[in-house]
Amino acid sequence: MNSFLNAKDLGDLKEALREAAEIKSDRFRYDTLGKNKTLLMVFFNNSLRTRLSTQKAAMNLGMNVIVLDVNAGAWKLETERGVIMDGDKSEHLLEAIPVMGSFCDVIGIRSFAGLTDRDYDYAETVYHQFVQHSGKPVFAMETATVHPLQAFADLITISEYASKRCKRPKVVLTWAPHPRALPQAVPNSFAQWMQEADRQALPLGGSKAGIDFVITHPEGYELDPDFTTGATVEYDQRKAFEGADFIYAKNWSCPGVTHPAGYGKILHDYHQMMHWTVDAEHMEWTNHAHFMHCLPVRRGMIVTDDVIEAPSSLVIPEAANREISATVILKRILQSL
Ligand code: CP
Repeated sequence: MNSFLNAKDLGDLKEALREAAEIKSDRFRYDTLGKNKTLLMVFFNNSLRTRLSTQKAAMNLGMNVIVLDVNAGAWKLETERGVIMDGDKSEHLLEAIPVMGSFCDVIGIRSFAGLTDRDYDYAETVYHQFVQHSGKPVFAMETATVHPLQAFADLITISEYASKRCKRPKVVLTWAPHPRALPQAVPNSFAQWMQEADRQALPLGGSKAGIDFVITHPEGYELDPDFTTGATVEYDQRKAFEGADFIYAKNWSCPGVTHPAGYGKILHDYHQMMHWTVDAEHMEWTNHAHFMHCLPVRRGMIVTDDVIEAPSSLVIPEAANREISATVILKRILQSL
């Protein structure tokens, strides 16, 4: 593996889950694999979980780690070609990338969507510049349109909890209100990974394979079909929640699919949308569902205190599984060097 962006990059998800379980039972099993290898983690945006879990994963594998916060201590980087650099950006990404590549063996990139130019974001321009110009394997630590390390950790978590209680889990991705415009990376990846798990008939519960996957959101927030084709979209949140085993809450801004001019925008004043917040009444509509969210989460907006603090909430084990997903991905990359 020399690039990690999508579920298909991992191939057989059953084998990936087997590797995840192996790592979880002994996370230092491959602690010499990364000897004298260096991971460079490049952050264009803030992070808590991705930063800690990916660094921990690299340490599990015996790697050295360098962390570069582009916006704190490095030269400000220009990412577009054809510009006259007479502003505050001192260096172009096209020089910076090969320089970064010369100091490491593997690169992780966090670079969020700008949410102004849909074509630029959905082409994954920054990520592909790293792939093209670094000469090193590159993996996404949340890019403009995807967050595969999160989605893999989510799948690991569902596999762990579904096996105890469901025959064929019903998993619901629900939009929830937020005061700021957020990217679509997490819901895109979650939808893609759930669809891929179902396509591969992944055994996650009792006798039946795959996942019943439903997406619910207000009209206008339709996700890009590249990530959702085949998924059921139910605009009535209550109907979507009925019988659910897992509720995965997330806000996202307008993906610009049914409202091209609205790309990256919040379509409704959030005060009018608070009935989408996941509270105890919402959870009563479900089949005693587990609550999931990638974190960070705004309480009172996305979810109420009682729901996120309930024993059925998986937000902490889900975050802890980020170490496992990152260890599997880095292991595979190191094995292919
Ligand atoms: N879920 C996640 O990626 O968290 P951070 O933004 O804190 O890394």
